[in-house]
Amino acid sequence: MTARRPVRVGLIGFGTVGTGVVKILTENADLLERRLGGKIVLAGIADKDLSRDRGVKVDRSLMTDDARALIGRPDVDAIVELVGGHEPAKTFLLEAIAKGKHVATANKALLAASGPEIFAAASKAGVEVGFEASVAGGIPIIQVVKESLVANRIGAIYGIINGTSNYILSRMSHEGSTFEAALAEAQRLGYAEADPALDVGGGDSAHKLAILSAIAFGTPVDLSAVPTEGIAHVTPLDIEFAREFGYAIKLLAIAKQEGETFEARVHPTMVPETTLLAQVGDVFNAVYVVGDRVGPTLYYGRGAGSEPTGSAVVADLAAIARNIWTGSAGRVPVMGFTDEGRRPLRMKGMDEIVSHFYLRFTVRDEPSVLAAIAGRLGENRISIESVIQKGRAAGGSVPVVIMTHAAVERDVRTALAEIDRLSVVSAPTVLIRVEGGS
Ligand code: HSE
Repeated sequence: MTARRPVRVGLIGFGTVGTGVVKILTENADLLERRLGGKIVLAGIADKDLSRDRGVKVDRSLMTDDARALIGRPDVDAIVELVGGHEPAKTFLLEAIAKGKHVATANKALLAASGPEIFAAASKAGVEVGFEASVAGGIPIIQVVKESLVANRIGAIYGIINGTSNYILSRMSHEGSTFEAALAEAQRLGYAEADPALDVGGGDSAHKLAILSAIAFGTPVDLSAVPTEGIAHVTPLDIEFAREFGYAIKLLAIAKQEGETFEARVHPTMVPETTLLAQVGDVFNAVYVVGDRVGPTLYYGRGAGSEPTGSAVVADLAAIARNIWTGSAGRVPVMGFTDEGRRPLRMKGMDEIVSHFYLRFTVRDEPSVLAAIAGRLGENRISIESVIQKGRAAGGSVPVVIMTHAAVERDVRTALAEIDRLSVVSAPTVLIRVEGGS
C-alpha cells in the first residue's frame, strides 16, 4: 500500500475537550495509525490563554493566540472548533470551510441554531463537517443515526443527554441532596456549561435534540419551537411520590415521528424504575432509539468530559482522514439525508402531545375535594389511573397525587386551569409527564 500523507489538524480552543483531543492524538497515536493506515498530526493549537498548564504535553511552538492565522495556514487540512457558543465560533467554521478545510466541532448550540447555514457552506465547498461530539459526548450517536440505522424509519428517540441535569436528579434521588448542592458539585467536576442555566433549564438538551431529530427524521427543526422545560422546579416531594408509583424522574429529550408530523420536546419525565433509562445515573447519558426494523436500541456512556468528548472529536478526525485518503469526502450526507431527500415535517405543538400525567394538587383536607378534582378531569376527557393522598392536616393543605391514563395535553391544561381556580386548591398544581405508563 502506498504511504498515506499525514492529515494535519488545527485545533481552536484548548479547554477541557481540546485537552482531551490533544491527549488522545498524542497518547493513542500508534493505535490510530494502525487503525487508519496513516497519521493524524496536530499542526497547531489556537487559544487566547497560552500559559495555562493543561496537564498535557504540547510542543510550545504549536501554540498561537491567532485562530484566523491557523485557519489560513495552507498546510492545515482540517480545523477542530472547540470554542463553543455562537461567535466567533461560527466565523471560524465558515472561514475554515471557505478555505476548503474539513471541520469538526462539538458546538451543539451553534449547530442547533445555524446548522443549515454551516452545512450548506460545507456542501458547496465539498468539505466534511464532523459533529459527533455535539450530542451525548463520547456516545457515537450521530454515526448510529446517520449510518448504522440507515435501514430504519426512526419512530422515537428518548435521550438523557444532559449529564449535569442527570447528575443533579440522581443526587437528589439517591442522596437527598438539594438541587443547589448537586449543581455546585457538577460545576466543580466540570460537567456544567459556562452558563449552567443551559443545563438545568433544558436548553442544552434541546440543542442536542434539535440536531438528533433533524438527522433522524430528515426534516428541518426550528430550535425555537422545541418546547423546553428544565429541572429547577423538581422537588424532593415529587421524587418521593414518583418512587411510590414506581417511577424515576429524568430530564428526557423526546422526539417522535408519525406520518407527516413529528414532535420534539424536553422536560422532566417520569419513567418506570424498571426500565434501563431509569437506571442511567450520575453524569451518564443514554439515548434510546426505536427503528421500524431493528426495534428498540440503547446507547449509553459519558456525555461530557475531556476524553469522552475528545474521543468523539478524534472519531470525526479519523473519518475525515479516511475520506481524504480515499477521495470520498461527502460519502455520507452531512445531515444523514441527501438535500433532495430531506422533507419538512410539521412539528406538533405541545398542546397536541399525548402522554400520561402525574398531577400533584395542593388542597385543603376537606370532604368532596377529590370529587371536585375528579369531576373537572372527567369533563375534560382525562381518565384517572391511580390516586395517593397522604396524611391529614387539620385546616391545612395536603398533597393529592393523581396519575392519569393517556390524555391530550391541551385537555389537561384546560382541566388544571379550572381546578386551580377552586377555593379548596391552595397552590398551583404540579404537572410532570409520564412515559411508559400503562
Ligand atoms: N453541559 C453538558 C452536559 C456537557 O452536562 O451534558 C456536554 O454537552
